[in-house]
Amino acid sequence: MSVRINPSILAADFVNLERELGRIATADLVHVDVMDNHFVPNLTFGPQMVGRLQDVSPLPLDVHLMIDDPGRWAPGYAELGAYSVTFHAEATGDPVAVARSLRAIGARAGLALKPGTPVEGYLELLPEFDQVLVMTVEPGFGGQRFMAETMPKLGLLRAAVGERDIWLQVDGGVDEETIVTAAQAGADTFVAGSAVFRADDPAAQIERLREIAAAHSHV
Ligand code: DX5
Ligand code: ZN
Repeated sequence: MSVRINPSILAADFVNLERELGRIATADLVHVDVMDNHFVPNLTFGPQMVGRLQDVSPLPLDVHLMIDDPGRWAPGYAELGAYSVTFHAEATGDPVAVARSLRAIGARAGLALKPGTPVEGYLELLPEFDQVLVMTVEPGFGGQRFMAETMPKLGLLRAAVGERDIWLQVDGGVDEETIVTAAQAGADTFVAGSAVFRADDPAAQIERLREIAAAHSHV
């Protein structure tokens, strides 16, 4: 089993996104943060932009929906061709229905948990999902401090996942140091915005993060 590095284009230059995608072509997937200014106090882009990213990206899209009412909106991102679509547990009363709608279209279904959301109530739903995103910052903005207090959730998830092909993702404040903590706790998929796009050489930084994560991963 290998680790994945998914750069977040939230930290990229929004008016040069095609060029920015070229700078991270050695990554595994491109993490695309969709924010609606309701679920989180920030606004990024919607289906039209994600559709164009899908058209030009050399890498599959890992769409992270920080939006209200994913039951209504999430399937549209799967229909655009996103490889994975992750929505927030806090935004829906029926995560299983949303996950099934995504899988029916052919996308991997992801469940995201804010730092304050306990994982226990979701462990029995794992068969419905292809990845779980443990937020390591409050969603909404890049460049925040990694919250190590979220790591026990990864341990519970790793134990519950067992041999299944369910990716465990961390997102927020991931850099060369905190990626060690997350890998040791059980993560195998690492979103990094600032740490990649603010590096002088994003490709070299991706490789560095991948090597560090692989060295400390126990999956
Ligand atoms: C935060 C987003 C993250 C963000 C991470 O709400 O979900 O994907 O881009 O940015 P960094 O790596 O800078 O913390
Ligand atoms: Zn994200």
